[in-house]
Amino acid sequence: MTIIVNVLFCFLCAIALVSAQQSPDLATMNALRDSLKFPKDFSWTGPDPCKWSGVQCDRSNRITRIQIGNKGMSGTLTSDLNTLSSLTVFEVMGNKLTGGIPSLAGLNALQTINAHDNSFTSISADIFTGLTSLQHVYLDSNPFSPWEIPMSLKSATSLADFSAANCFLSGKIPDFLGGQTFPSLQKLRLSSNSLSGELPLSFANSPVQTLLLNGQTPQKLNGSISVLQNMTSLTEVSLQGNAFSGPLPDMSGLVSLTKFNVRENQLTGLVPSSFTELQSLAVVNMTNNLFQGSTPTFKAKNIAVDITPRLNSFCSDSPGVPSDITVINFKGMGLKGTISPRFADLTSVRVINLSQNNLTGVIPQEITKLTSLATLDVSNNQLYGKVPVFGPNVLITTGNPDLGKDDPGHASGSSGSNAGTVVGYVFGVVLGLLLIGLIIFLVVKKRKQNRKKYQQQHSGEEDALKITIDNLCAGGNNFDEKNILGRGGFGIVYKGELPSGKTVAVKRMESSVISGKGLDEFKSEIAVLTKVRHRNLVKVEGYCLEANERLLVYEYMPLGTLSSHLFNWQQEGLQPLEWSRRLIIASDVAKGVEYLHSQAHQSFIHRDLKPSNILLGDDMRARVADFGLVRLAPEGTQSIETKIAGTFGYLAPEYAVTGRVTTKVDVYSFGVILMELLTGRKALDVKRSEEDVHLVTWFRRIINKVAELACHCSAREPHQRPDMSHVVRVLASLLDQWKPDEDISGNDYDAPPPPLLEMIQGTGNDSSFFGDNSLTSIPSRPRQIDNTFNTGQGR
Ligand SMILES: *[C@@H]1O[C@H](CO)[C@@H](O)[C@H](O)[C@H]1NC(C)=O
Ligand SMILES: *[C@@H]1O[C@H](CO)[C@@H](O)[C@H](O)[C@H]1NC(C)=O
Ligand SMILES: *[C@@H]1O[C@H](CO)[C@@H](O)[C@H](O)[C@H]1NC(C)=O
Ligand SMILES: *[C@@H]1O[C@H](CO)[C@@H](O)[C@H](O)[C@H]1NC(C)=O
Ligand SMILES: *[C@@H]1O[C@H](CO)[C@@H](O)[C@H](O)[C@H]1NC(C)=O
Repeated sequence: MTIIVNVLFCFLCAIALVSAQQSPDLATMNALRDSLKFPKDFSWTGPDPCKWSGVQCDRSNRITRIQIGNKGMSGTLTSDLNTLSSLTVFEVMGNKLTGGIPSLAGLNALQTINAHDNSFTSISADIFTGLTSLQHVYLDSNPFSPWEIPMSLKSATSLADFSAANCFLSGKIPDFLGGQTFPSLQKLRLSSNSLSGELPLSFANSPVQTLLLNGQTPQKLNGSISVLQNMTSLTEVSLQGNAFSGPLPDMSGLVSLTKFNVRENQLTGLVPSSFTELQSLAVVNMTNNLFQGSTPTFKAKNIAVDITPRLNSFCSDSPGVPSDITVINFKGMGLKGTISPRFADLTSVRVINLSQNNLTGVIPQEITKLTSLATLDVSNNQLYGKVPVFGPNVLITTGNPDLGKDDPGHASGSSGSNAGTVVGYVFGVVLGLLLIGLIIFLVVKKRKQNRKKYQQQHSGEEDALKITIDNLCAGGNNFDEKNILGRGGFGIVYKGELPSGKTVAVKRMESSVISGKGLDEFKSEIAVLTKVRHRNLVKVEGYCLEANERLLVYEYMPLGTLSSHLFNWQQEGLQPLEWSRRLIIASDVAKGVEYLHSQAHQSFIHRDLKPSNILLGDDMRARVADFGLVRLAPEGTQSIETKIAGTFGYLAPEYAVTGRVTTKVDVYSFGVILMELLTGRKALDVKRSEEDVHLVTWFRRIINKVAELACHCSAREPHQRPDMSHVVRVLASLLDQWKPDEDISGNDYDAPPPPLLEMIQGTGNDSSFFGDNSLTSIPSRPRQIDNTFNTGQGR
């Protein structure tokens, strides 16, 4: 019996030995090898996968590691990787793999999935199911078709890093991403996607240290950021380029916070001392929010702070200037409306002089609460109603004949006076805000003559630069030879200045082309411009269609055309464009054209895309210009037949031959532009700094990809050319490999256009040309706040 058992045992041993020689994972690995495409200098050869390069096995010849990152591989992954049940590390990043990332469900030894920087187009929704050992996940920079953070991630309870930037994530940040589910999560990077909704409250107990949610577009994250208060492990936060609102919470618990970036949101309120007093802070970015109060000063030493009050309404340019208001002197300023009860918020105020205005309504009871108030002079107005009781000698009311009477003189029933009160109240609040604006002005004026940094406040408060068409047409714009910026087919472009001081580019149609064709072009251009508005399209500020003038006023693009930077940089004393910049420009142009094609209210075809029609803003971001040739594509159809317009060299062959226009005509031109961006390189990369050396490896891959894309775009047959959305996706994934500045995915969409059509037709005469003060507009000359006030209060 024993012998038999021994024999049997040995027999089993023998089987074990035999199978030990051959990995049980052989079939899967062979299939994987067959689906991958290896580059020349790297391959998997031989019968034993455990000996393949980048593959490791355990003692029983089970595959434990597949590490084939950055090998120039293409091809796809097989779907049965979830049979590799001993796999701990799966790394394929930095290749050109396509297709889907298959499910890895059940691989409970798996610790790392690294698939960033590939061309994967999808990811299995149950990929994470049962991955209880999973700690590190990197999926960044893949052109996935839009996906959401899958529920299956819930089972990855050991998660420490989850990085999925720039990979078309959409939907909400799921509630389960908090500390309850992921007690070890340290890094969460979801930048440059299209996430929306609010921060989940479950974040409150998250141990996460790095939280990067910046640059969501076109969808954005919004709501309050108060949950940060309880995320006390945070060291680095970036929420840039979202739509978060409300105040900063109490930050006193975030004692390890070093980097805090909330640029380009809609945060409001005072910057709390619980934040400014954090000793750990090293970098703070708060530009382009709606913060109020005095410009904050920070306690931490060697801190880099970026709080340019471009939209923030800090009371003074200099940090730390206290903003206690003690004297308000608005006498004789022609103020209309009522006195705001919000004056009661100015707790330090001693003197309020509102005399000699046209104020109506009652004196708000609330103001009596101001304990420091020594003088309230409301003399010579049209106030009425009950007079609140102030201390002795505080109130001066002479010259208000109706004061003390119920009714200011208009005959009215009770409902009328109720409505009046409501309107008065609303107006009062508005007036109050405006008054505060003026106070700010007065305070600053006292301290600082130079108000250079004072920039336009957010559009809600209106820039109120009341330029009428008459102003624009009648001049102020000097059509002088020396102001010529360029000459186009249909007119000369001048540099001009508006009465507000804002520099603009004015395209003036030559009189010979005003009628007939030129007029059609002009109208076509206007029709387009009133409908499209995008960060990557040159913005129209206004226009004029008066009897003898045909003017289009564009935002001024200080850095000129792409063609200057690409072809004439030496003559014009410019720096050659860097490679990353070229890609950004290409991506910008692609986004602008994509928008024209598909995202505007209707489909538009540019038809004359070329580097001289691409302008660069002072941030070097590109905007597509000159819609002079754009024709509205009839709705519902993508093809129109029309006369040829465009520029040789950029004309798609089928367009040149048949005159048939589709969006693919622009795609062809774009392909040519990409080629130009590519071939312009030779002269440029002679002097590269040492730090750029390792970028060269990046270049190679990127240039191949860009070249591929250019060829794809300018394919002979229109149907072989991709859609612009594909182009945008491919470029987006390349851009992230460059790690360009975080700014890259800021706001793509400008605010809606001003009612330009109305203005052409001569209606809407009190709308401002310059209602849009989006983040991407060029800062105009400092504007005096009293201007705002006077205009604002007239409404
Ligand atoms: C956030 O955005 C969503 C749309 O994505 C909207 O429904 C919601 O009301 C917004 N929430 C806040 C607080 O603005
Ligand atoms: C955050 O912490 C505060 C004080 O510790 C607590 O009152 C509040 O409920 C917490 N918020 C959440 C969402 O957990
Ligand atoms: C944040 O502010 C720092 C300090 O001014 C600056 O160096 C950095 O470029 C800013 N980053 C962003 C993304 O704005
Ligand atoms: C008040 O308004 C009237 C017209 O409504 C104007 O004539 C008058 O000058 C104004 N008074 C002051 C002090 O601004
Ligand atoms: C308010 O201004 C008026 C007009 O200049 C002036 O007569 C009056 O003395 C001022 N009141 C105070 C309290 O300064």
